[in-house]
Parts: sequence; C-alpha cells; structure tokens
Amino acid sequence: MDKIYWGADAGLAAYHRSRFEEFKTSGSEAFEKACRAEDGRLKHVVSAEHLDLALLKIIHDTTNAARRISKIEPEFLKGLLRHTSVLNYFPQPSTRTFLSFSRAESKLGIQREEVRDLKTSSTAKGESDLDALRTQSSFYEGMVVRHPSDLYGHFTVWAMQNSRRPLHIFNAGSGTKEHPTQAILDHYTMEESLGEIDGKTIAFYGDCLRSRVIHSGARLLALHKEMTVYFVAPEHLQIDTETEDYIAQRGVTVHKIKTGIGELPSFVDVNYMTRLQDEYGAGSQSEKYPTNLVFTEDHLRMMPETSILMHPMPKREEIDPRLDYIDDKRIMLWRAQRNGMWTRAGTMAYVFGVDEQIRNKYTFLEKKMEKMMRPRR
Ligand code: CP
Repeated sequence: MDKIYWGADAGLAAYHRSRFEEFKTSGSEAFEKACRAEDGRLKHVVSAEHLDLALLKIIHDTTNAARRISKIEPEFLKGLLRHTSVLNYFPQPSTRTFLSFSRAESKLGIQREEVRDLKTSSTAKGESDLDALRTQSSFYEGMVVRHPSDLYGHFTVWAMQNSRRPLHIFNAGSGTKEHPTQAILDHYTMEESLGEIDGKTIAFYGDCLRSRVIHSGARLLALHKEMTVYFVAPEHLQIDTETEDYIAQRGVTVHKIKTGIGELPSFVDVNYMTRLQDEYGAGSQSEKYPTNLVFTEDHLRMMPETSILMHPMPKREEIDPRLDYIDDKRIMLWRAQRNGMWTRAGTMAYVFGVDEQIRNKYTFLEKKMEKMMRPRR
C-alpha cells in the first residue's frame, strides 16, 4: 500500500490514484523537470537524485555564510524572508528534522506554522491527502513535509502541478526511500570532518533495506569519485538492488557484508549507524537489532584519528551507551544535529532565492573585518 489516503469513496479514490499513476509512470526525467523552475533552479527539494555537487556547494557555502552572519548580524538574516510563510506538515513523528527546520525558518525570519496531529485536522473528517495538500498550499509559500509514504515526494510534486498556486516543497522524510535534507546535512558533516569526500570509504551499518537516510545518503556519495561503500547488515536487512545498482552504475565500489562490524572501523573513513526501522513492519523476520552490529568502545579505539562515527538519530541499542560519556571529536552524533539546522537554513535560502544575498553579505562583512584588523600606519 502507498500509505496515501485517497479519500473515503473507493471510486473517487481509484480515479485520483490512476491520475497520479499516470504522472508516476511518465518517468524520472518528467519528475525531475516538475521539480525545477524554467531556468533549471530546483524549486522542490524532494529527492536526493535531483542534487548535484554544484548545488551542494551552493548550499554548503550559504550554510557557512549564514552560520557566521548569525554571530555578527543576526538581524540581517531575520529580515530576508519575513514575508514568506511555511507550513511544517509532520503527520509522521520527528524530533530533530521538525525542530531543525523550525529553527532554520526562525533564523531566516520565515513565518511558520505546523500541523503534526491529524486528529485535529479535517483528515479526521475524511478529507483526502490530495485535498489537504491543495488546501494547505493556499496559505503558504512553502511546505516542509514528513510522511510515512514512500511516494509522498512524488505525490506532493504531482499535486502542486495541478494547483494554480504552486509552492515550494521540502521533503523532510518520506517512507523508507527519501530523506534528502538529511543527506545534505550528512554530506556537509562529512566534508567538514574529512575535508574531501572523493576517494573515501563509508560503512553503513544496520537497517540498510528500510533506512531512507541510507538510500538518500548513498546517492549523494555516488556524486563523488572513487568511492567505496560497505553495507553491513544481515541478509534480510541488506541494501535493495535499486540503490545498489544506482550507485554501482555511477562508479561506487559496493561491498555487502553479513558478518557484523568486525574490523571495518580500523580502515573506513565514516562509520554510519542506523536503527531498525521497525515502524515499517518486519515481515517474517525477528525485529531484534543484531548484536554484531552494535558499535562498541573497541570499535572506537580501532578508528583512525581522521575517521568519524555518525548516526542520523534517534538511536536505540546500536551504539554502546558508554560512548555517550566519552568526549571524542570523532563522534559526530551531536554536532551533525546542529549542522542539520544550518544546512536546512542554507537549503531554504537557496529555494527561496536569497542564497546569493547571504553569501555576498558574508563576503562584505569579511572584508570589513579584515580592514578593521589591519594595523594602522
Ligand atoms: N534524523 C531524523 O530524521 O530524525 P527525526 O526522525 O527525529 O526527525
């Protein structure tokens, strides 16, 4: 099932669904075209497949500039998008994506509202997801959406195509397939920590099959040269062939490991943990996290000084709790969350067209500071 609510009446639901199927079968190129403005600029951030290294550089540079400006002249940032309004629509639970988007919006002066509990919305009276989305789009310039459906990114873009009042969509996680803004923040964190991503080795541990973070993140890694990716999971949680083929076709060397973490931390650059995504159902398999995939103090000890440990969070039993009490710069769990707020500010600034203003402002402030610091003759 696609987990999209098409409405109470079976006939109407089938009609709308068939119209959506038509759009979906028109292919990935048509989908991407629908996500871009006429000048090619991305207007919806719904899929990691629509991101490239040039755009990631723009977002990261804007993120860094906004981060620094906020320390010197936060009012400048707050004035940028004060006439822009965004709805944070999160019918699926979230802590950090919701809060980091919300804080990013505050930093940019965006007026923001939220819907988290569908019991308080007209969905409880039988309104379809399509009508709900079109209604919401009447009031805002942007929507940040988190939804359990794998297809929700596609669905929102299709729905907006049929609306006279299109708005910008930010996919904050849809089902098991897409979490593009998490992939952006992870890419930023890796670049910040490793300096250069080309040629690096990344090990994803845990639920490779159902982790939308891995599916989106692996696609961004495939933009880089000479990458090696290990997917470390038991057979029933191994990476899907769609993702494996996608990155392998782009030159990534893929290894699939069933035997646990083992000695991998002694030579990989990034250890990336994930929890069991058991909210999506276990099928016939046990939903117990494999003990050979728990990251321990021994694993931390074997990590090279230049490598890092990441987890998109929330975490459960995947990391030994002792690591929570070790102050080690290689543990990037908490810093990555803060990076999430800033990269979301960078991403929103790009989509709403104020990214260049932010970067120019920072260049101006930098020059001004340089002049002030110059010794007087
Ligand atoms: N990483 C992440 O998506 O966390 P939340 O589910 O808390 O937003």
